[in-house]
Amino acid sequence: MSKRVSDFLLASKNQVDHRLADLAAEQTTRAAVLGETLDAITQAYTYVLTNGGKRIRPTLVYAAARAVGHSGHGADLDHVACALEIIHTYSLIHDDLPAMDDDDLRRGRPSCHKAFNEATAILAGDALQAQAFELLADASDFHPQKRVALIKALAKAAGLQGMVGGQAMDIAATNTDLSLQQLQSMHAYKTGAVIRAALTMGGIAADASADRLDALDAYGSHIGLAFQVVDDILDVKGETAALGKTQGKDSEANKPTYVSLMGLSGAEQESQRLLQAAIDALWEFGADADPLRGLAHYIVSRDR
Ligand code: IPE
Ligand code: IPE
Ligand code: MG
Ligand code: MG
Ligand code: MG
Repeated sequence: MSKRVSDFLLASKNQVDHRLADLAAEQTTRAAVLGETLDAITQAYTYVLTNGGKRIRPTLVYAAARAVGHSGHGADLDHVACALEIIHTYSLIHDDLPAMDDDDLRRGRPSCHKAFNEATAILAGDALQAQAFELLADASDFHPQKRVALIKALAKAAGLQGMVGGQAMDIAATNTDLSLQQLQSMHAYKTGAVIRAALTMGGIAADASADRLDALDAYGSHIGLAFQVVDDILDVKGETAALGKTQGKDSEANKPTYVSLMGLSGAEQESQRLLQAAIDALWEFGADADPLRGLAHYIVSRDR
C-alpha cells in the first residue's frame, strides 16, 4: 500500500475517533441534566464509542466520497461516517449479549454487558441506534432531500432487510447446515448490508452520479461479503490477543461459516476471488479510488 493511501486510511480513523469522542462527551452532558440515574448508560455509551475498533465503515464513507471527487475528509461527511460506526457499534453490543453470541470480550476489553450489565448494554445499543438517525437528520451541510436519502439508506441496511434480518438468519442457522447459497445470503444481510451502505452513503453525500453509485454498490457487495468470509477465517486461525475477541467461538457455538462449509483454504480462495471482484468493480475510477483499493486489500489480509 502506498504511503498516500495508508495516510488517507489513518487520517480517516483519526477523524472519526475524534468525532465519536466529541459525541460521547456531548451525550454525557445532555444526559447529566436528567440526573445520576443515567450515569451507567452514559458511561457504557462512552466505553463502547471510545474503545478502538478498526473504523472500517466510516473509512469507507470517506474513501467512497474521495473516489467520486470529494476531498474525502470534509467535515460535511462526519455525520455520515459517525452514523455508520454508531450503527455498527450498537450491532456489536447486541451481538455479544448472552441471548445472541454470548461473547465476553470485544475490542480487547470486556463486552459491554460484562463491563456494565445486560440491561445497560441493551439500552446503550438502543440509544446508539436512535442517535445514528438523529445525526443524519442533523447533517445541516446537506439539503433535506439528501438527508432523507441517507436516512433511508441506513434504515434499510440496518433493519430487517439488512443487518437485523441477517442476525435473525444467523441465530436460526445455529446447529444447522446451510447451503453455500444460503450462507452467502446470510452474510450479505448481516455484514454486507451496512458495508454497502457505507459506500453508497459516502457516494450520495458527495453527489455521485447514478453510474458511480452503482459501481460503489458493486464494490461494496463484494467487499462486504469478503469482510465476513475473512471474519469467519479469523475465528479459526486468528489469535484472541490480536483479534480482541475470543477465537473459536463459531465452532464452539456450531455456527455454519465459510470455513465450516468450504474448509480453510476454500474460504481463503473465496476471499481472494471477492477481492478481485471488488477491485474490478472500480475499473472506471482513477487514482482517486486508490484508498478504496487499499481498503479492499486490507480487509482481506487483516489479522484482526
Ligand atoms: C466485526 O466487525 C463484526 C462483523 C460484522 C463481522 P469489525 O471487524 O469491523 O469490528 P471492529 O469494529 O473493528 O471492532
Ligand atoms: C456479527 O457477526 C455481525 C453483526 C451484525 C454484528 P459475528 O457474530 O461473526 O461478529 P463477531 O465475530 O462477533 O465480531
Ligand atoms: Mg454473531
Ligand atoms: Mg459475534
Ligand atoms: Mg465472527
